[in-house]
Amino acid sequence: MSKLLQDNTETIELNSSVHSLPDQEFARDVTRGLSANRKYLSSKYFYDEKGDELFQQIMELDEYYLTRSEYSIFDKNKERILETFCADCKGFNLLEFGAGDGYKTKVLLRHFAEQNTNFHYSPIDISANSLEQLTNTLEIELPKLKVSGLRGEYFQVLEGLKSNQEERRIVLFLGSNIGNFTKQIAIQFLDQLHSALNPGDLVMIGFDLKKDPSKILGAYSDKSGVTSAFNLNLLSRINRELGGNFNLNNFIHSPYYDPVSGECRSYLISTIEQTVHIDDLNMQAHFKAWEAIHMEISTKFDLDGTDELATTTGFKIEANFFDDKKWFVDSVWSVK
Ligand SMILES: C[S@@+](CC[C@H](N)C(=O)[O-])C[C@H]1O[C@@H](n2cnc3c(N)ncnc32)[C@H](O)[C@@H]1O
Repeated sequence: MSKLLQDNTETIELNSSVHSLPDQEFARDVTRGLSANRKYLSSKYFYDEKGDELFQQIMELDEYYLTRSEYSIFDKNKERILETFCADCKGFNLLEFGAGDGYKTKVLLRHFAEQNTNFHYSPIDISANSLEQLTNTLEIELPKLKVSGLRGEYFQVLEGLKSNQEERRIVLFLGSNIGNFTKQIAIQFLDQLHSALNPGDLVMIGFDLKKDPSKILGAYSDKSGVTSAFNLNLLSRINRELGGNFNLNNFIHSPYYDPVSGECRSYLISTIEQTVHIDDLNMQAHFKAWEAIHMEISTKFDLDGTDELATTTGFKIEANFFDDKKWFVDSVWSVK
């Protein structure tokens, strides 16, 4: 199924199972997560229209250093990044997993376009809303850019990637999205990505690095409460889409950072004993007072950890681009 939006931009629904993701898979995952002994919800469901808007507000927060750090890396190194991507190649396909609003990627896209680089950009995202906004803004800001947006879940898109492509492919996975996986899932994702690519193809992955724990915790517990609203919005989404009756006032948002594992985990905690009804799932979720729902993992890395991920999944490290404070790294890896 493919929908042509403008002359040079299109969005493609990956397949009918992706189309049904917000309904059947959302329902299945919420049932599983809220029936588990230790309750959890997947952060991939944060991104409905309201969630996309709240994430854009998060990126502007003083406390959320990640966006500024990676933006500065691209701004300062765009020439070197283009050289690493394509010193003497004829052109490339640029795929971006979890592209969001593309705020930082546009620094690179603009530079590549100014250098008359021959490339095609394919942003991939689970959020139809984000993807449509991104392709619409690119149509206005970079009208000559060839863009095809692909709506889908990371692993479903990976399954559809073919390894017999002639043109070089460069895969972006920015914003430390990789930190939202457990280590085991990150390895599985990178393994599958490696198998789908050809020798000479590249990936550039943004990793948030270990730093003063108070800075890290601050990024997930801002004073203005936007991150709390972002997490609570998933309960609102369950109310809206699955007929739930969560009372948001009965939950507080609480992040926790472990400097040894580098995992920053976000929880919503029930402040009272309560039973939540979710009509469409025919489900009652019982909460003890102070029981937690695990919402998100945002892993922080050190360079040994990023190097280990590359080598265990068969990639060769080509370059590391840091911001001035060394709070973030964009690491370029090739397929041998
Ligand atoms: C934290 S935002 C980061 C956006 C962008 N990479 C950046 O650095 O600003 C994560 C993005 O990935 C998308 N996303 C999250 N989980 C996903 C999944 N499992 N499959 C596809 N897209 C996903 C979200 O919709 C969102 O746009």
